[in-house]
Amino acid sequence: MNKAHYIIALDQGTTSTRSIIFNTRGQEISLSRHEFTQHYPQLGWVEHNPEDIWSDTVYTIKNAIAKASLEGKTSKIAAIGITNQRETVVIWNRKTGKPVYNAIVWQDRRTANSCRALKEEGLEKTIYEKTGLLLDPYFSATKIAWILDNIPNVRSEAERGELAFGTIDSFLLWRLTGGKVHATDATNASRTLLFNIQTQSWDPELLKIFNIPASILPEVKDNSTLFGTTDPALFGNSIPIMGMAGDQQAALIGQACFEPGMVKATYGTGCFMLLNTGDKIVTSQNRMLTTTAYRLNGKPTYALEGSIFVAGAAIKWLRDGIGIITHASQTNDMATKVNDNHEVYMVPAFVGLGAPHWEPDVKAIITGLTFNATAAHIARAALESIAYQTYDLAEAMKKDSLEEISSIRVDGGMSANDWYCQFLASIMNTTVERPAYIETTAMGAAYLAGLGCGIWNNIEDITTNWSEGSTFKPAMEQAERERKLKGWRLAFKKALLKE
Ligand code: G3P
Repeated sequence: MNKAHYIIALDQGTTSTRSIIFNTRGQEISLSRHEFTQHYPQLGWVEHNPEDIWSDTVYTIKNAIAKASLEGKTSKIAAIGITNQRETVVIWNRKTGKPVYNAIVWQDRRTANSCRALKEEGLEKTIYEKTGLLLDPYFSATKIAWILDNIPNVRSEAERGELAFGTIDSFLLWRLTGGKVHATDATNASRTLLFNIQTQSWDPELLKIFNIPASILPEVKDNSTLFGTTDPALFGNSIPIMGMAGDQQAALIGQACFEPGMVKATYGTGCFMLLNTGDKIVTSQNRMLTTTAYRLNGKPTYALEGSIFVAGAAIKWLRDGIGIITHASQTNDMATKVNDNHEVYMVPAFVGLGAPHWEPDVKAIITGLTFNATAAHIARAALESIAYQTYDLAEAMKKDSLEEISSIRVDGGMSANDWYCQFLASIMNTTVERPAYIETTAMGAAYLAGLGCGIWNNIEDITTNWSEGSTFKPAMEQAERERKLKGWRLAFKKALLKE
């Protein structure tokens, strides 16, 4: 057992950055969280200022250390684990460390046309076979190409080896190590459209397709290994960074879904459902993604993934966009109060649709409004829509994996909503298990770092640590369930209607 007792998990998400300190039993000791500004410079564009992300990273880590009363005792911190919003692209100058443009966020749709053009060239099949991903603006490659082609001088600087590309993990690792390490991990690399998940390496043919110079790419490492040590100027003394993974893969680890067939769904900004397929790369016939779930000691484990772009973001829109709630937790009572949805449905395609439809241009709609509809019905329709989409993902996954999904582990903000979990269990006709601790993304990053520095020995230790909080069993008449699903499909068809 390592002498130092604490792990810092840094969870850099789409709307907030949080740092959590865990003890060796995996219990939270302190948490610091900060929301940051979203930039929408044009319709369909979503950007972050990388400097905001960096300053929140340093601030939340320092604050979590202070709250845990570890100031001046940072030698008690064994390691840092990093987890992050995936696919989001940053390109920075290797000398100055300064980004050449804002981070282009995974939700950004500006490259929809270039994806369409590549599809028309018939490239999607090759790309899918190598990466497990589809041609959608969601992933990094077309965003990288956009920066190279649209920001003056950037392509030539990149070709001269002066620039570095990274997803957020990689950018933060660079900054945390004082510019010493340019690396990423296998799960984040798997989301770029440039990484071959079979050979587990950057793929020259893909780099050619997207016209991206290899010189900007980071080294790809296992999820649990020494990535580097923090610059002593930051937190007092150097802390090793021993774990790194994209947030959805980290949540799979935090949920201890290590056996093939185990499924988790994380409700953050979006909802991402991952089914562990072990060492098998399962080819989807239903427009699901195949991705690296984790790579430990050089051995990759794979997952099928269904990605819904809007989950918690729809609730945020209820609060910040139309102001019918002041706090997300109110939706629980509102949904309970109205008893039924009154045939009001929302299709929350605010940034197009992800799996299994992949329609970047579709917009969100609310259908079935009458004068009987109240704010509570709209709040309920938003919650219901996330459950219907989770159901659609599960149906597609069942067809691909030929397995029944007998239970699903949920986590993330919306999983705290009892009404939602119960409705999900009923609509999916499946047991929904919510762990006692729902910050599983951060937990997963802490586990990876803890495995790296010997606080936990193996994945069995992690499995033992997972503890169930609540279980929700299906409780809806079949006829009622079918009626609701029929209403959802109808609303969905309306959203797909093109002008
Ligand atoms: O793929 C995008 C995903 O990593 C974003 O996660 O937690 O910000 O919804 P989250």
